[in-house]
Amino acid sequence: MNEPPRIELARLPTPIDHLQDLSRELGVEIYVKRDDLTGAALTGNKVRKLEYVLAHALEVDADIVLTCGSAQSNHCRATAIAARRSGLDVELFLGGARDASVRGNLFLDLLMGAGIHHLSDEAFEEVDAHMAQRAEELGAQGRDAFVIPEGASTPLGALGYVRCMKEIRNEEDEADVSFDLLVVPVGSGGTLAGLLAGAQRYGFKGRIVGIPVCHDAEFFATKVTTLLEGMRRDHLDDLDPVVPIGTLVDGFVGEGYGHATFAELERIRDLAILTGIILDPVYTNKAFGALLSLVRTGALAPGQRALFLHTGGLFGLFPYGDQMPHLMVP
Ligand SMILES: Cc1ncc(COP(=O)(O)O)c(C=O)c1O
Repeated sequence: MNEPPRIELARLPTPIDHLQDLSRELGVEIYVKRDDLTGAALTGNKVRKLEYVLAHALEVDADIVLTCGSAQSNHCRATAIAARRSGLDVELFLGGARDASVRGNLFLDLLMGAGIHHLSDEAFEEVDAHMAQRAEELGAQGRDAFVIPEGASTPLGALGYVRCMKEIRNEEDEADVSFDLLVVPVGSGGTLAGLLAGAQRYGFKGRIVGIPVCHDAEFFATKVTTLLEGMRRDHLDDLDPVVPIGTLVDGFVGEGYGHATFAELERIRDLAILTGIILDPVYTNKAFGALLSLVRTGALAPGQRALFLHTGGLFGLFPYGDQMPHLMVP
């Protein structure tokens, strides 16, 4: 592998927890790879990607980074914090309706002093052009802006999850276990692309399943293939850029990106009570619902092992607080 520069941002390796009570209930073994523990506020899956992407920004002497996402984007929050840790300024392009109150990820964006550009849904469709234009404006003022695409899902960013797969393989060897299934949420595709590339490279034998939380399997099959091709071109010349059939599984977007039904919020509460693990409503809870559904429909034989990649997102839960009192147990 042509190993590009990387800065250390994540607390690694993240642990793998065995959910014993849930495993007993389901008759298969459920483990969780705790990438929600890559840090405190600088946490979740984006941190592994940003280790490579921000190293590149520093290498090309950028002094400010620009990136984009929704108002409650975990990626924007992680980028804002990682930028400050690296001595960089940061501006964020946030799409969708303006939140009336400042909470969750947006609160942390502001705490980091990130410059915020609010875009309507319509304007957000052209967000790359808006960021390019702002980079040009900053350039005219003598600044050096570095633009990070949505989710840091570039071939370079995805390398963070090639490394994660190496970590998982080490953890398998150390514990003398092997996972039959690995389930991960898919929002912009970089995490899944990295895991697929890492599986080829480090010989992960289980089935990898990505659960789209927006768009659909066909959309992400194309996107992940393009990322794998880019990774082969730039970093891993022996990589086969193939997304195996059955990798992307539809049916778990629910009422739409960022929408959480009462039943979905109940599942977050139930898992919290059973295990102390907190899922987020936008990504991990939808993928966890998919894992439960796969188990119920026989994707695993009794006693087989599933690993769920917890990609973080805790701060995205707080804006759902108004709906939670209805879920409190008496
Ligand atoms: C908490 C969380 N999980 C999963 C994802 C999806 O990862 P990816 O964008 O690499 O598909 C994201 C971001 O999109 C996220 O913020």
